[in-house]
Amino acid sequence: MNEPVKTNTKIEYGFNWRTGTTGTALEALKVLLDRRDTATGGHSLRVVRYTEAIAAELRIQGQELEDLSLGALLHDIGKIAIPDSILLKPGSLNRDEWVIMKTHPRLGADMISMVESLQPAIPIVLHHHEWYNGSGYPAGLIGDEIPLGARIFAIADAFDAMTSVRPYSGAMDVQSAIKELKAGSGTQFCPVCLQAFLNLEDKNLPIIYDECRKEAEPTQFYGLPNYFNL
Ligand SMILES: [Fe+2]
Repeated sequence: MNEPVKTNTKIEYGFNWRTGTTGTALEALKVLLDRRDTATGGHSLRVVRYTEAIAAELRIQGQELEDLSLGALLHDIGKIAIPDSILLKPGSLNRDEWVIMKTHPRLGADMISMVESLQPAIPIVLHHHEWYNGSGYPAGLIGDEIPLGARIFAIADAFDAMTSVRPYSGAMDVQSAIKELKAGSGTQFCPVCLQAFLNLEDKNLPIIYDECRKEAEPTQFYGLPNYFNL
């Protein structure tokens, strides 16, 4: 294994959105988004870290890197507007429910477009479900038409989804998840971005993976905690 290169931690990059009043508000939003949508805490943190690591491997830095990080953090903010009956539905969604669920990228982009400081996150928020072969949504963009940040993020999101325990499926091991990602190269995922992720396998990935698992807040609830015993 190669000598690990600099890890992509918030301390080393010191991103603006993680400090001051804005950073505090975004940290609170991160917790809210995680608890609204997933059974496992720390999804937002992990996808931010993976996105940053892939981006750094592609030599993206400075403001561009910071914008990708913000986009990763807010990627599913549109799900706030998806009804609980769909977002938290046990089992699979029917066709009509999927139509509603698939509105979350546009809803999210619309929401953050009203806040100037969040607008750099729009490319990832709007396009994180596009597929490299054009079969994704909402715009059906193909290949490099998809913003680079969204292509990077799609890999980070898929890797975390596969390696996290979900309400109705166990966590996949890292090697199996990497095999799945490779199977999606050129169809779901951008081959160049995927190669950047694969380059991490012998460098940052084990470190980031372990750090994220340690830092993830234990979330005991599926959806919002039932504070009121309703
Ligand atoms: Fe999403």
